Amino acid sequence: MLKKLPKPAIIAHRGACAYAPENTLSAFELAVQQQADAIELDVQLSADDHIIVIHDKTVNRTTDGEGLISNLPLKTLKELDAGSAYDDAFRGEKIPTLAEVFETVGKKIFINVELKSLLTSKKLTEKVAKCVRDHNMASRVLFSSFNPIALIQIAKLLPQTPRGLLVYSGPLGVLARTRFGELVPHQSLHINLQGAKQDLVDRAHRQGRSVLVYTVNHPADIQRLVKLGIDGFFTNDPHLARTTVAKIAAK
Ligand code: G3P
Ligand code: MG
Repeated sequence: MLKKLPKPAIIAHRGACAYAPENTLSAFELAVQQQADAIELDVQLSADDHIIVIHDKTVNRTTDGEGLISNLPLKTLKELDAGSAYDDAFRGEKIPTLAEVFETVGKKIFINVELKSLLTSKKLTEKVAKCVRDHNMASRVLFSSFNPIALIQIAKLLPQTPRGLLVYSGPLGVLARTRFGELVPHQSLHINLQGAKQDLVDRAHRQGRSVLVYTVNHPADIQRLVKLGIDGFFTNDPHLARTTVAKIAAK
C-alpha cells in the first residue's frame, strides 16, 4: 500500500475521529467521504481470540462497559455501546472486528493496521495475517507497531505487505531510532509530531523509507511537515487536512 499513496498522504487516525467515535465503522466511512487516502486503526484480541478494533486496553473510556479487552469474549464486546460515550447521536454503534472493517471499507480506502499487543503478539499477528489473506487485503494494508517483535513476526507471515515502525520522540524512542531499529524489517518510520525534524526525515529517506507523522490536527503543523518533505501524516480531521493540503498545493 505504501507505494500507492500520494504525498503527503492523509491518514485518518482511528478514522475521522474528530467527527465520529474513534475506531468505529462510522468513523471509517466518514474518512472515506472526507477523502482521506487511508485509515489507521488499532487491533487487539478478545478473550476468545477475535480481532477487535479498539485503542485502549480496556473498554472503559470508549464504551458503556468495563473491563480488559483480553478478558471479554466477542459476544460481550458486541453488546456494548461504542457510540454514546462520544455523542448521543452515535448511540448503538458497535465495536467492529477487523473483518467487518475490511468488508465495509476495505475496497474503498487503504488501511494501516496498528498491532497493539506488547507482550504476547504471536497469536495476534497470526490471526491478523490470516484475516488479511482471507479478505484479499495484502496489497491494501500497511502494518505498524510500537512493538518491534510484532513487526518481525508479521514480516515472516506476510513479507510483501509493508510495515511501519512506530517510535516515540525523546528517550523512549532512542532504541527504535538507532541501530536496534535497523534490525526490524520496516519500510516506513512513524514518528510523532514533536520528533519530526529535518535530519530524521532525511536519514529515513536516505535509507529508502517513508516518513509518516502522528497526530497532526493543525494547518500550521501540516505546512511545517510538508516543508520537511514528510510522506504522510495521521490526523483526526481528514476534512481539515484535505483542505489544508489543497491550499498548500495551490500556492
Ligand atoms: O499510528 C499512529 C498512532 O495511532 C499511534 O498512537 O496511541 O494513537 O495508537 P496511538
Ligand atoms: Mg494507533
